[in-house]
Amino acid sequence: MVIVGDDPASRVYVNNKKKACAECGIYSEEYALPEETTQEELLSLIDTLNKKSDISGILVQLPVPKHIDETTIINAIDPKKDVDAFHPINVGKIMVGNFDFVPCTPAGVMELIKESGIEISGKECVVVGRSNIVGKPQAMLLLHQNGTVTICHSRTKDLKEHTKKADILVVAVGIPNFVTGDMIKEGAVVIDVGINRLENKKLCGDVEFESAEKVAGAITPVPGGVGPMTIAMLMKNTVKAAELNKTHK
Ligand code: GUN
Repeated sequence: MVIVGDDPASRVYVNNKKKACAECGIYSEEYALPEETTQEELLSLIDTLNKKSDISGILVQLPVPKHIDETTIINAIDPKKDVDAFHPINVGKIMVGNFDFVPCTPAGVMELIKESGIEISGKECVVVGRSNIVGKPQAMLLLHQNGTVTICHSRTKDLKEHTKKADILVVAVGIPNFVTGDMIKEGAVVIDVGINRLENKKLCGDVEFESAEKVAGAITPVPGGVGPMTIAMLMKNTVKAAELNKTHK
């Protein structure tokens, strides 16, 4: 795990990932670099970790400071060690449907749906958000399971018209309480990927839980819904990476 700078949310995420590794018996190393680290220094560390035979998976916590180009960093990670599945090789594999790693958050959402016995095939699936980390891969994973998928975003006209049709609604926009109960179809499965910190320091999701739970057939809370699943999927990807990299030793 590599963390650059001292973003408090990133610090919490990395601590949680480190703790999960310890609980699973996965050996981990943390590289906490100062805010002023140069892109060259970060690339040099990634190169070292790419070559290190006792390291199977590399995760650079995002966001990186503004003077570092995120794409350059993602592209530098060995795709076989890319446990986040952010490298374009892994993104392409997800698109084609023949992948080793699945991005952790969308994978966690799929696992929640599967474990709850919810059928995806033929269902109206609406993803609100189009980020590379969640929205886009989420849409692909739902499509691979034969969902009828719509991706909505900040420029979508009449968002409610789309969300109201969703049998499965995944919200990942990063805006507190963005989706309200009146935007949800009766009995829909609502999965809230957002983690927002309000001014009163409380955490809340992208879905207004109070109004949404009255209409939804199933709904995930924030915190405690998708978040722990993301970390569990990271552990799964790390074990996969260890298997893939066995030949490195
Ligand atoms: N920042 C927010 N989510 C993620 C994630 O899943 N992986 C990494 N590396 N950084 C993130």
